[in-house]
Amino acid sequence: MSHIRGRFKKPADKLVAAYTASLSCDRRLYRQDIAGSIAHARMLAKQSIISDDEAKQIVTGLETIRKEIEQGKFAFRDEMEDIHMAIEARLIELIGEAGRKLHTARSRNDQVSLDMRLFVKETVTDTIGGLRGLQGALLDLAEANIDVVIPGYTHLQAAQPVLLAHHLLAYFEMLQRDVARFGGCFGRADVLPLGSGALAGVAYAIDRDFLARKLGFTRISANSLDAVADRDFIVEYQAAAAMTMMHLSRLAEEIILWSTAEFGFITLDDAYATGSSIMPQKKNPDVAELARGRAGRVYGGLTALLTMMKGLPLAYNRDMQEDKAVLFEAVDILLPTLEVFAGMVRTLEVNAEATGVAVERGYILATDLADYLVKKGESFRTAHEIVGKLVSYALEKGKDFGQLDIKEYQQFSSHFGEDVLKITVASSLAARDVPGGTAPERVRQALAEARELIAGR
Ligand code: ARG
Repeated sequence: MSHIRGRFKKPADKLVAAYTASLSCDRRLYRQDIAGSIAHARMLAKQSIISDDEAKQIVTGLETIRKEIEQGKFAFRDEMEDIHMAIEARLIELIGEAGRKLHTARSRNDQVSLDMRLFVKETVTDTIGGLRGLQGALLDLAEANIDVVIPGYTHLQAAQPVLLAHHLLAYFEMLQRDVARFGGCFGRADVLPLGSGALAGVAYAIDRDFLARKLGFTRISANSLDAVADRDFIVEYQAAAAMTMMHLSRLAEEIILWSTAEFGFITLDDAYATGSSIMPQKKNPDVAELARGRAGRVYGGLTALLTMMKGLPLAYNRDMQEDKAVLFEAVDILLPTLEVFAGMVRTLEVNAEATGVAVERGYILATDLADYLVKKGESFRTAHEIVGKLVSYALEKGKDFGQLDIKEYQQFSSHFGEDVLKITVASSLAARDVPGGTAPERVRQALAEARELIAGR
């Protein structure tokens, strides 16, 4: 880093250099950094701030460096501090004097913001791709098991029957909101900060619109202080990632429960389960468990980022260097989780026999009995009370509703007629024929709409 230590009489202490370095983490931004520098050099030449020949040397040098990095030939030395300094130092080593002009009309403060914005924009695209992949897998599973009914739960107590497809479509909706959140984050990241310099703007006749076009930004930042001090787009990615991990963790929890012997609703494909080192019979849902566990790390990152930013005066502060390790960790958790979940969901097997048994248990049609009485003229509250008493009676007798005869029903209400015996799981589903309800026709329609939605991106 000797090329920026003109005002110092001695080099940084070794401990200080190691403590302040971020190269081992931000080297991941080399592509974005080089792309930004190439555009910057071309802009400087176009504006006659440097010569065309100098720009050419810079561009060729940067492309060489990119190859060196990609071929593992680049020496990442910690005393280089960060990826920006490492690349600039190597450029100067390669092309000499022209390399010393690249940083004209630029600061690492607008440079690092640019790199991170480019990174977040690319990563959002990958993330939305991952979300779409998992949504597709959920739809595949739903369509392949379109007739399967499960108990719907509240308080994890069997509540009312629902189509498995309806249940899976609930996750589709959550992921759909996630897509929108990441889309919003993309829009906020899609602002060119270059030209803000260290904090006040730069004293050269630069062309920011040219830079924005070259680097694929829709807008340029309106305030130089904000541009170099803003990390909202990173916090937003992290917040959206935390929300998605929360959703995935809920799905994980259901997969874990449903694959127990006690539920037995699903069987994980062997390729998506793990064994125990001691108990030969075990088939464990470790993928789902790890996703559930890793959600906490992404939440922790969100707290870290918000806390890092909350006390910072304008504009750039070195604290902000810490955003990268946090964001990268979230990305490295979220993207693989989405991918592995798509595979796990697509390959799992639904045990319709077990769900069929479960859905007949636990007086799950009690609401339908109450609705039946309402249709015969009873008020809902009275109907609720009558059916409550009927459940209590049936429990005492150790019988299901289906095992009670019409005389027993009529002890509780004279409104009960023979047709009460026609209340079934199927009639319960069909009755919920409202937009957003679990009636099979509604669910089929929702599936078709969901398909269209992800096909149309
Ligand atoms: N490595 C720094 C970061 O990630 C780059 C910006 C450094 N700017 C500075 N003035 N020290 O935040």
